[in-house]
Amino acid sequence: MDFALTSEQQRIRDRARQFAREEVAPLAREADATGSLPRQLIARLAELGLLAGPLDTAYGGAAMDSLSFALVCEELGWADSSLRGFLTVHAGLVTMCIRAWGTDEQRARWLPRLASGQSIGCYCLTEPEAGSDAASIQTTATADGDDYVLNGEKIWITNGTIADLAIVFATRDPAARHKGICAFLIPTETPGFQRERMPGEALGHRASDHARITFADCHVPKSALLGEPGEGFKVAMSALDRGRLGVAAGAVGIGQACLDACVEFARARRQFGQRIGDFQMVQERLADMAADVDAARLLTYRAAWLKDQGRPATRETSLAKLFATEAAARAASEAVLLFGNRGYSNEYPVERFYRDIKGMQIYEGTSYIQRVIIARDLLGKEE
Ligand code: CAA
Repeated sequence: MDFALTSEQQRIRDRARQFAREEVAPLAREADATGSLPRQLIARLAELGLLAGPLDTAYGGAAMDSLSFALVCEELGWADSSLRGFLTVHAGLVTMCIRAWGTDEQRARWLPRLASGQSIGCYCLTEPEAGSDAASIQTTATADGDDYVLNGEKIWITNGTIADLAIVFATRDPAARHKGICAFLIPTETPGFQRERMPGEALGHRASDHARITFADCHVPKSALLGEPGEGFKVAMSALDRGRLGVAAGAVGIGQACLDACVEFARARRQFGQRIGDFQMVQERLADMAADVDAARLLTYRAAWLKDQGRPATRETSLAKLFATEAAARAASEAVLLFGNRGYSNEYPVERFYRDIKGMQIYEGTSYIQRVIIARDLLGKEE
């Protein structure tokens, strides 16, 4: 067993780290406060070859392996989960999903644009009455000559108001549950595709773009189908297998950022005549945090490595997402406490980490759903 990164993986990690620390982190607080992602960061991701990292070079990607992509997500997660979330959806849920399921024509039309940032992607699955139970979606797709006509509503769609292209899941027959679901590639300018920002203010990921999207007699040609009719649920789940790895890696980044911040603070802050890091109670917290971050990282890298071997990794990806997000939530909670009154203010990033990590325990499958996936795999189907 070799735990060392290859020189190519180190090179990608270093590039992502430099970008995250020098260009992303300094803007993160203001992006959080103003509620919008600096668009120049998306252009920089493209310039650095990080916007479509895992995509083949023929389509404008960097052909990086899954572990390298996880490293990119980890480094971005260290700096700003809103940008990391943008990337996980754009690259993991959209670009690589089209790479996996698209026709040659769909790939040629969309992948180079997604890789360059000329088009932004979003992934439309969640509905008001279909969150964890994704097979119960009610957005309908009704065949009409050479078209399908979509009607329904999607919520909490990351990148939804800025996207140029949406992967939309709709059902031909709600009673058929997952067997009725189709996936469509829909340009967001299509008549009947309507979007607005989600109402209210989110707890975290405040620089992210979250949309409510409605389909009102939205006509799309049958050539917009991604995969075969009725294959949409598998398209959705396979995309989430990729997306969840990015979320797990982003959570490792948050955990590491909390640990780094706490170590620095425990060295500098003095109370009762000594560094607070000299108190055993603080040392215990730092040591537990370090163990959590390392375990989360190893689970995440293992899931990425399995994907790179072409081996099934659904369970291992869920293990990584479950553990890494829960561990980072513990780390962020501890970091806010350790920082005391400073941790309670957005003067220090630990406050933002504490808010952001909560979303990561929810989106792309809640911690409950990751446990369902893991337990079902352990138990198998009843004979
Ligand atoms: N890859 C490929 N196929 C898969 C799969 C996977 N990972 N998981 C399941 N399938 C297949 C099954 O093999 C089965 O196929 P067959 O009919 O051929 O047997 C079919 O899909 C149905 O599977 P299940 O019976 O397991 O389906 P289920 O209804 O019990 O649901 C679930 C399973 C895991 C709970 C699923 O509903 C799920 O993941 N729920 C959470 C949804 C989620 O993550 N939503 C977040 C959306 S994105 C977001 O957060 C916002 C954003 O903007 C990014």
